[in-house]
Amino acid sequence: DAGRLGDELGVPVYAVGGFVRDLLLKSPTLDLDLVVEGDGQAFARAFAARHQGRVREHSKFKTAVVVLPHFTINANQPPREQKVDVATARLEYYEYPAALPTVELSSIKMDLYRRDFTINALAVELNPASFGRLVDFFGSQRDIKDRVIRVLHSLSFVEDPTRMLRAVRFSQRYDFRIGKQTLRLIKNALQLNLLDRLSGHRIFNELKLILNEEEFLQDLEMMQDLGILKAIHPKLEMTPHRKALLEELDKILTWYGLLYQSPTPRRWLLCLLAMAATWKEEELLALTVRLGLSKKEERELVTLRRSVHKAMDLLKRWCAGDKSLSELYGIMHQTPLEGALLLMAKFDDDCIKKHLSLYLTTLRGIQLQMSGEHLMDMGLPPGPIYTRILDSIRAAKLDGRASTLAAELALAE
Ligand code: CTP
Repeated sequence: DAGRLGDELGVPVYAVGGFVRDLLLKSPTLDLDLVVEGDGQAFARAFAARHQGRVREHSKFKTAVVVLPHFTINANQPPREQKVDVATARLEYYEYPAALPTVELSSIKMDLYRRDFTINALAVELNPASFGRLVDFFGSQRDIKDRVIRVLHSLSFVEDPTRMLRAVRFSQRYDFRIGKQTLRLIKNALQLNLLDRLSGHRIFNELKLILNEEEFLQDLEMMQDLGILKAIHPKLEMTPHRKALLEELDKILTWYGLLYQSPTPRRWLLCLLAMAATWKEEELLALTVRLGLSKKEERELVTLRRSVHKAMDLLKRWCAGDKSLSELYGIMHQTPLEGALLLMAKFDDDCIKKHLSLYLTTLRGIQLQMSGEHLMDMGLPPGPIYTRILDSIRAAKLDGRASTLAAELALAE
C-alpha cells in the first residue's frame, strides 16, 4: 500500500535498513523504515491519513514517524500498532564528507551509502511496477551470505563512533564476524579516542541496546577484547570476578524471563551494578556522569545499590537465625525487583538463593483476605495501625501461624 501511495504522489518509495536485513535473515522484524525519493513528510502525512494514523514530523531532518493503530506487516500476524519511520532521500540534503571523492549518486544510493554497514544498506522497491525489487549497490547480499559486518567507507566511525558498539551488537546478534578492514578501522577510531567525542547520553543509549540483547554477555566480552569498554570508562572492565557475576545474572534473568513476561527487569541497572559491585559510590557516580544518566536514573542506580547492600547484610544475619519467611518478606519487600535478582546472583549460598526465588515467585505476591477497607467497615479509625495489623496478619500467614483479627488488634494496639 505504501508503494501504491508512492505512485499516486509520483514518488519512488523503498523499505530500507534493518527491515530488509531481517527479511533476508528470516528473523522477525518489528520496525519498518521507509525512504521516499521526494517529499517524505508529505508522503508520511498522506500515509497516516489513509490508515487513520498519527504523524510526528521532524522538519530539520525531513523525516517523520507515522504511528498506525491497526497495521499488518506480516499477513500471518494479527494487526497491531506499528511505527513507521519515513525519511526523505534527496540529493540536496546530503553533505559529502570532505575526504570522500565527489561522485554522482542517485538519492536512494546516497541515502544507503550514508548508513553504518553494508548489511543495513539494502532497499526494497515498493512501487507496484517494481514491487519487491531488491536494491543492492554495495554487495550487501554477499555480506549477509558471508555473515560479515563491513562499513561502507573508511570514515564511517569518524562520522558516528556509536557504530563501533553497533558493530559488536549486530555481530553477536546474528553471529556475524566483523570484516578485517572494519576491525582495523575500529582500532584506529579507538586510538584516536573518537568515543570521547560522543555525549554520554548517546553512549548510554547504545549500551542499553546492547544490554537488552539476549547475547549481552558476549557483547560485553567482545567490547572488552576490542578495548571499547575501557575507552568508554577506564574502570569498565570485564574482570573474571565481574564476568562470573554477570554469567550468574544471565542465568537468573533467563529463569525469571521464563516465569514472568512483565515487568521486565531493567538490565542496564543490573549490569552497571554488577560491573561496579566493588567500587566506591563516588566511582559509580563518576561513571553515571560519563554516561550522561538523567538525575532520575542516577537516583535509581544509587538507591538500588544501597538497598542491595542493606539487604545483603540483613540476609546474612537472617540466614544465621530461624529463617522465618515473614522476616525474609520484611527484608525484601522494600527492595526493587532488580535488587532481588542481583542478590540471587551475588549469593553463593544455596539456601539464600532458594529462599530468594521463593520470595520472587510466591511470597511477594501473597494475598490477604483482610484489607484496609475491611478494617474501615469495622469502624476502626484509619491510621498507622492499619499497616501494623495487615503486616502482622501477613506475617502469621507467611509463617503458618493461626491468627485471629481480635488477637492482631490487641497486638497492634
Ligand atoms: N544507522 C546508521 N548509523 C547509526 C544508526 C543507524 O547508519 N549510528 C542506520 C542503519 O542503516 C540502520 C538504520 O539507520 O539500519 C535504522 O537504525 P536503527 O533503527 O537503530 O537500526 P536497525 O538496523 O533497525 O537495528 P535494530 O534491529 O537494532 O532496531
